[in-house]
Amino acid sequence: MAERAGTRRLAVSDPLRILVLHGPNLNLLGTREPDVYGDVTLADIDEALARRGAELGCAVECFQSNNEGALIDRIHSARADGGGIVINPGGLTHTSVALRDALAAVGLPVVEVHLSNVFAREPFRHRSYVSGVALGVLSGFGAEGYTMGFEALVRRLRAADAGSA
Ligand code: DQA
Repeated sequence: MAERAGTRRLAVSDPLRILVLHGPNLNLLGTREPDVYGDVTLADIDEALARRGAELGCAVECFQSNNEGALIDRIHSARADGGGIVINPGGLTHTSVALRDALAAVGLPVVEVHLSNVFAREPFRHRSYVSGVALGVLSGFGAEGYTMGFEALVRRLRAADAGSA
């Protein structure tokens, strides 16, 4: 539609950006230990989040890597985009100070997600380096945990936005 002379186009604010990160071995979901992780694939999870993101007016980007450095680089580049991060760090949860430091360095709100209930598993899974820099943690709800964490993060970001307006 043509703009009338003298009218100003309303500024359309950027959509809220949510980065969804999946750590090592999560590309194998669907075939990996289905008794622990279920039969949902990573593509299923990403599609569900993209759909929910569209409903909530968010721009969602999903990224999986088996490489710690690649995840850290992606976290660094999210700094400029703003928004928030949903992360399932996989096994790096229990080992990676560097991943935690990257999340702390960019300072974006983070929600940590695990498909399995890590606290009901081996003791080495009970420690997370990421939880201390996360708003909250969902563990044990399968793929649904991603959606729950995603929605909670969007609500939190929107509330913070409304508070600062
Ligand atoms: C996991 C739990 C971790 O302990 C494990 O190393 C994973 C998946 C989960 O989603 O339940 O790779 O993060």
